[in-house]
Amino acid sequence: VRNYVDDLSTYPQIDSINAAFHSDELIAIPTETVYGLAANAFSPEAVGKVYTAKGRPSDNPLIVHIHQMDQLEFADYIHPAARQLMDVFWPGAISFILPVKPDRLAPQVTAGLSSVAVRMPEDKVARQLLRIVGLPLAAPSANLSGRPSPTQFQHVQEDLEGRIFGIIQGPDSEIGIESTVLDCTSYPFKIARPGSITESMLLQIVPGCLTEAHYEPDTPIAPGMKYRHYAPNSPMTLIEGGIQEPLTIDSQTAVIAPESSRHLIEGGHFYPLCATETAYKEAAGNLYDVLRMIDHNHAVKRIILSGFTRTEETRALMNRIDKASAGE
Ligand code: TXA
Ligand code: MG
Repeated sequence: VRNYVDDLSTYPQIDSINAAFHSDELIAIPTETVYGLAANAFSPEAVGKVYTAKGRPSDNPLIVHIHQMDQLEFADYIHPAARQLMDVFWPGAISFILPVKPDRLAPQVTAGLSSVAVRMPEDKVARQLLRIVGLPLAAPSANLSGRPSPTQFQHVQEDLEGRIFGIIQGPDSEIGIESTVLDCTSYPFKIARPGSITESMLLQIVPGCLTEAHYEPDTPIAPGMKYRHYAPNSPMTLIEGGIQEPLTIDSQTAVIAPESSRHLIEGGHFYPLCATETAYKEAAGNLYDVLRMIDHNHAVKRIILSGFTRTEETRALMNRIDKASAGE
């Protein structure tokens, strides 16, 4: 779909989009976190294609997207505290891992696990699509495996054009990093991947609902989480706490920093991430786009990224930055 869509229900191609999902085709869709590569979650054929199109290892399970609670019939059990959190945060940027009933979903959705991750997205086009298609849609991020998640239509095109049936062109993803993943298979719950919905937001609704010792972000509770994440083409060094002093760099180095730090940088390639060092949300929204832009700049051989103060609010952002800089 080449034209920007903001109301899918009156879109002329909606019938062929709907038919495509019902005949096991893949379509990339906008969501408020990142674009997703969607497939009928009941169809082994469709879900199999997701792994092929992305080049995704087959033991890394997918997130199932729904638009209303009665679609959750494939969940075996929903803890009352999880229900309470769903009531508050859905539709939104959080996925819940729930025990799954056998033989309901295509087996590749869960990669053989006895649990499934589920999210009800808030994005208007995604919701309309889910309602019209009437199927739960399995959708990982719509990037090639190993590339940054796509936050813009162009990113999806870059990675998947020609490999899938279509891409629905919505707005840039508002949040820009992937959903919080909450493991609700045992109580208290565990945050398996930090996102824009934070620990204290969850605890405020259900005090005591999280284990004290949560996972190191993305450690293997899902087999797929063991895989190397996106790393830029050039090695990236994180400056913990942010660039505070003048820095002179060479023409092969890119600096990613808030606009407010630009005056400290002499030489090289400057890539603004956000306006100021406290503009975390803006930074999260731009991170993957900036990393993709730098990958395209062949003059760059080395990247320096100005880090953000580590607080609960910056946890998800710094988690993605830590992965991209691989601890350097
Ligand atoms: O914001 C998002 O979550 C986006 C949009 C499209 O919804 N999706 C997304 O999907 O980021 P993906 O596949 O890139 O990440 C899903 C994560 C993976 O780390 C996967 O291992 C984990 O969720 N996951 C899925 N099912 C799981 C399960 N049953 N148990 C544990 N982890 C699971
Ligand atoms: Mg992904």
